Amino acid sequence: MSSTPPILIALIGYTGNVGSALLERIRGLPQALQPRLSGVANSRSAYRFDRPILVDELESALLHGKPAALSDVLRFDAPASFNETIARHEQHPLRLCAMVDCTANEMISRSYGALLRDGTHVVTPNKLAFSRGYHEFQELKAAAAEGGARLDFETAVGAALPILDPLTGLVQSGDRVSHIEANLSGTLAYVLNRMQDDGTALSTAIAEAHGQGLTEPDPWQDLSGADVAKKLLILVRCAGVAAEPEQVQIAPLLTRSVDQQTFTDFDAQWAARVQEARRLEGRLVYRARFDGQKLSVEPALVAPRDPLATGRARDNVIVLQSQLYHPEALIIRGPGAGAHLTANGVLMGLLRIHREATRVSGTH
Ligand SMILES: NC(=O)c1ccc[n+]([C@@H]2O[C@H](COP(=O)([O-])OP(=O)(O)OC[C@H]3O[C@@H](n4cnc5c(N)ncnc54)[C@H](OP(=O)(O)O)[C@@H]3O)[C@@H](O)[C@H]2O)c1
Repeated sequence: MSSTPPILIALIGYTGNVGSALLERIRGLPQALQPRLSGVANSRSAYRFDRPILVDELESALLHGKPAALSDVLRFDAPASFNETIARHEQHPLRLCAMVDCTANEMISRSYGALLRDGTHVVTPNKLAFSRGYHEFQELKAAAAEGGARLDFETAVGAALPILDPLTGLVQSGDRVSHIEANLSGTLAYVLNRMQDDGTALSTAIAEAHGQGLTEPDPWQDLSGADVAKKLLILVRCAGVAAEPEQVQIAPLLTRSVDQQTFTDFDAQWAARVQEARRLEGRLVYRARFDGQKLSVEPALVAPRDPLATGRARDNVIVLQSQLYHPEALIIRGPGAGAHLTANGVLMGLLRIHREATRVSGTH
């Protein structure tokens, strides 16, 4: 068992689907490995604890604790009252402090740069910081390098599927990606599969996906294609392509012409579309594509034997061709959404940082 002190985290979005699943998964670890909480926040309140606490202590800490400002929760510089664990953290070659952002919040995603520069690791499934202008993506990487901190956004694409880190490694080792076709939305895969496999109405399938915590906090983000466009951008950037958001051509799955329109308004139109796909013996998928130059996301009718058509339920499928993976493509497939899968991916990121600190300090 490692003698490296456990990692200390500020968890933002602790009451959400992913945040609360993360707390549950942390609780399942041996106590010595369990990340300790220095603070938590949601959209309604923020708490900073005067000593790092175990997840099991959270309820009573919230009951007796004093609310703090979000900016305070994100500060890891320890006040005198912090206990010995913190002192040990500070003596450590790598300070083991991480901000875990389990929100889809823009403002919070803008705090990463300063935290990274200060040596705080950032682990997040939130896509926003990595899908704005390319220079911002580069700046975040530079901030992480400057602070010696890890920036882990593996779960922003494909939930816990191993995609971004292996892809980054592939490209760093000299391979060049020439073509990607992918289904990057667990939500849209789930909705399209339910309609085609079981004849479920569009609105029912969306409600099911939402109920299972698969959708974005705002499901229109998924249905408009905006969420998939962000994922494609992140994917190709990890493949070494300096792509900008406006380069992604987006054809939405659903477009709301007036604000009052509900999902049921689209049921009949989609039932007809599914029937037509069946008649043509094709499979409807929501396809993200990089052809070496152009980037697009769109509904597409593919042949039943196309790898993209082989995903089931909430599966993501990534079909990648490169100098090394040619003519046979590299195919990654598996469930690409879900609170527990995503939370576990976040937890794996935290444990990776802990392992790395253990290795650097030589304590086992
Ligand atoms: N769910 C998935 O399968 C999945 C998969 C991959 C990636 N992700 C990503 O994971 C993130 C979280 O998704 P989710 O499904 O857990 O969303 P969610 O259930 O809506 O939870 C969002 C959390 O963020 C909190 N929050 C919102 N605005 C905040 C603010 N201004 N300050 C502090 N906290 C704030 C919310 O607080 P309240 O409780 O007060 O509302 C809630 O705790 C998103 O970025 C999403 O894209 C999710």
